[in-house]
Amino acid sequence: MAKQDHVKITFYNGENIPLELHKVRIVQKLNLVPIERRLEALEEGGFNTFGLKTTDVFLDMLTDSGVNAMSDNQLAAMMQADDAYAGSQSFMRMHKAVQEVLDKKYLLPAHQGRAAENIIACAYIKRGSLVPMNYHFTTVLAHITQYGGRIVELLYDEAYKIASDHPFKGNMNIEKLEEVVRKEGASNIPFIRMEASTNLIGGQPFSVQNLRDVRAIADKYGIRIVLDASLLGENAYLVLKREEEFADSSMEEVIKIITGLADIVYFSARKLSSSRGGGICTNDEKIYRELEPLIPLFEGFLTYGGMSVREIEAIAVGLYETLDESMICQSPQFIEYLVNSAMANGVPMVTPAGVLGAHVNAMEICQHLPQTQYPAGSFAAAFYLISGVRGMERGSLSNQRDEYGNETYADMELLRLAVPRRVFTLSQIKYVVDRLAWLYDNRELIGGLKFVYEPPVLRFFMGRLEPVSDWPQKLMAKFKEDFGDSL
Ligand code: F0G
Repeated sequence: MAKQDHVKITFYNGENIPLELHKVRIVQKLNLVPIERRLEALEEGGFNTFGLKTTDVFLDMLTDSGVNAMSDNQLAAMMQADDAYAGSQSFMRMHKAVQEVLDKKYLLPAHQGRAAENIIACAYIKRGSLVPMNYHFTTVLAHITQYGGRIVELLYDEAYKIASDHPFKGNMNIEKLEEVVRKEGASNIPFIRMEASTNLIGGQPFSVQNLRDVRAIADKYGIRIVLDASLLGENAYLVLKREEEFADSSMEEVIKIITGLADIVYFSARKLSSSRGGGICTNDEKIYRELEPLIPLFEGFLTYGGMSVREIEAIAVGLYETLDESMICQSPQFIEYLVNSAMANGVPMVTPAGVLGAHVNAMEICQHLPQTQYPAGSFAAAFYLISGVRGMERGSLSNQRDEYGNETYADMELLRLAVPRRVFTLSQIKYVVDRLAWLYDNRELIGGLKFVYEPPVLRFFMGRLEPVSDWPQKLMAKFKEDFGDSL
């Protein structure tokens, strides 16, 4: 029997394309400016896609964070927000949604995901603490090191293979985890962190079985598990698709099993629930009491935590909508289409297709560039120049220098092309594939970048770079030769 929310749609003509299961009711006009202007915009923005303004951006694939399309019901809920410093009804509704969807009793609000990371790190990280994790995210690493802690990433080798067919590249390496815990001693490990849909290695999920295995080790040595649930909906969706045991399960069941295996669950509501804000939740009163005093200190009172009540209402509705497979499937299906179409044109991509975005293997495309010249950053700038599409560098630029000031080169040099939920149409995705194919065929024209301003923390946000030669002008000339007066 077909399960509820079953979303498979087969085309009569055999075509295999994703079908939008929503309709557009409000639109925003986009700007596809000429390539000459795009070059100026790059210069103004320090050849960093974070430095671009959306007046110069056609398809904004920088991130899904805070830019997923909201639903009519979310917008409607925002109108009934209850403005109160303490005891707001909006917070009660978010709390109820957290209890019903994430199955956690206590909720602490935070203004976004990294704020939750700051609270958890402040409470539990001491100088020298070690946090094993499947993989870091930029903000969590910054917070843990800020409080004097260290991290260790424990993936299986398969996760570092860009082209792979492993369904769960985000799995924690269980054998290595136990080895690390034994060597380090559980008392120096405040928690084990698991990230749903491991962002920086291409939006790759972990399996429920893997999380159960992590739980067994955590229980054996008495260590907490912290789950970063920012991309929990997508991880659960891929569990339904890829983990046999759950083929007939619902999103609700899988989400509850996953959150049930963690002691602390935190999330960026900019991703989970298609809104803004964040939160930390737990069933453990002791943990709740340990974290509670930090919320008024860093975030705001316990019933708003730095968020507007309108956003709190949108989170409540968005959390319930996360259980709807027909909503959650849209972005992963479009990503899969983008990845497969790009690869059909020869463009090397991270496989299997993950969530959040499609990831282009800039290391392979820009083999002629040394890592010192930031191949992924260079590819991101080049791709914006020839398409107006803004992606995000996920490579060495996004890494921070070590304690001695040396570069720490990334395992992968990727351009992430985010596909926020229900934002883009299939023809826009086809445009992205077309321009990717052109740039791939002209890849030898892409040159390197160097820093002209390098901030000490999270340098990829505010850093400014410049090209090492006049390669952008040459790339522009080739574009004009091939495309004439086309934008
Ligand atoms: N954890 C994960 C897995 C994330 O992807 C992010 C944000 C955060 C935590 C931090 O949350 O932005 O609300 O403070 N990722 C964004 C991105 C920035 O573009 O991937 P935040």
